[in-house]
Amino acid sequence: MALLISNGEIVTADERYRADLYIEDQTITQIGKHLRVPPGTETIDAAGKLIFPGFIDPHVHIYLPFMGTFAKDSYDTASVAALIGGTTTIIEMCCPSRHEDPLAAYDLWKSKAEGRSACDYSFHMAVTRFDPSSGAQLREIVADGTASFKIFLSYKDFFDVNDGEMYQILKLARELGVVVTAHCENAELVSRLQQELLAQGKTGPEWHEPSRPETVEAEGTHRFATFLETTGATGYVVHLSCAAALNVAIAARKRGVRLSVESVLPHFLLDKSYAGREGAEGLKYVMSPPLREKTNHPALWSGLAAGQIETVGTDHCPFDVAQKLMGKDAFTLIPNGIPGVEDRVNLMYTHGVKTGRLSIHRFVDALSTRAAKLFGLYPRKGTIAVGSDADLVVYDPEYRGILSAKTHHVNADYNGYEGFKIEGRPAAVTVRGRVQVRNGIFSGERTLGRFLRRDGWSDATRSPYAG
Ligand code: URP
Ligand code: ZN
Ligand code: ZN
Repeated sequence: MALLISNGEIVTADERYRADLYIEDQTITQIGKHLRVPPGTETIDAAGKLIFPGFIDPHVHIYLPFMGTFAKDSYDTASVAALIGGTTTIIEMCCPSRHEDPLAAYDLWKSKAEGRSACDYSFHMAVTRFDPSSGAQLREIVADGTASFKIFLSYKDFFDVNDGEMYQILKLARELGVVVTAHCENAELVSRLQQELLAQGKTGPEWHEPSRPETVEAEGTHRFATFLETTGATGYVVHLSCAAALNVAIAARKRGVRLSVESVLPHFLLDKSYAGREGAEGLKYVMSPPLREKTNHPALWSGLAAGQIETVGTDHCPFDVAQKLMGKDAFTLIPNGIPGVEDRVNLMYTHGVKTGRLSIHRFVDALSTRAAKLFGLYPRKGTIAVGSDADLVVYDPEYRGILSAKTHHVNADYNGYEGFKIEGRPAAVTVRGRVQVRNGIFSGERTLGRFLRRDGWSDATRSPYAG
């Protein structure tokens, strides 16, 4: 199948220029002006539009048994929602609890995606226990093309690993050349603070943040960095939420620790006051790490602009209001998470690029290129170049709209960004040359998405910010 995209302005992490793109057999085969293409080739006229590489969300949850329930999305819904929002590749967290068998869990997670995804996908493998059988199982998973791990320093007795386990996981990761992504908090401190707050009758969602304060996230980040430094492994902090933790990460990188930082959409746009809203409203905004004081926003935006925060994901993790209400009498029982996979690109474009906080190149880098480089997908994904997969977002910067649960496509009955304005959205989205979305409407193949095998990092894919 061939496709010509003409008259658009190509924008990558480091270039901006006018050229046409020709796509054959799923890849970009020509970039230039006055291309010679066969008569009758399907054409998208991109006059007045920007053309970005397909965006990559490095942190989503789709299938997730968690806190006594399941996240609401399936690949059928999440992959379509992602594409409508311009995200052509997702990396899902495969998250068995510490009581499950890792290999069986990995197969289960893969089976949830196979033949059901409209966009391409890959996994980070959560290691929630390290015992004598773990090494062999994890080697098998890495050999299957899942070359990144995830650890939790939080969610006591469910996902969290202790320091001894973290040490062994990082040593193995270093040997295999895989990145370890980490949720950095202190499970023990969170658990103790939660119990104390509940005992004082502090049960509402507004107490979620005080139960896991910034110091607890800074401690987790520091401990993770110390273990990376000791083992020589390469790490990636997920969903960093505050300046205190960012400063710890920056200091670690300065002394040569191989550590990258991700933050996620909610922490740039929402703040702690949302969880204090009346009734069920507050419950919708419970996630971990929690929404922080708004005073953190300038540090996050400037850290992002400077590349200290390298990537922006979503931590997409939708629960319906009825599920959130499980915790109406105790904030510790509110399923943690918020949807976002559909809205990340448009909101970061609107609040980052349009406001001048973020250059258009850093925007592309943080939402696409950098994740591709860190996780072994580059240059197949994350850029516009001859030979790259034709994952392209023809972006209409003149579009104006308002976000709402009434019109979104994720499987959740609320949108945390309800009423937020967007200034721009994808006019067309292709996955390997197939047009999947036109003007907000999915019009493609629901089963087009493929599992992306990823190998461990090499020097070429290491973060330039990582010392
Ligand atoms: O609140 C969150 N973040 N829910 C999803 C699980 C996780 O910690 O990423
Ligand atoms: Zn997490
Ligand atoms: Zn997550």
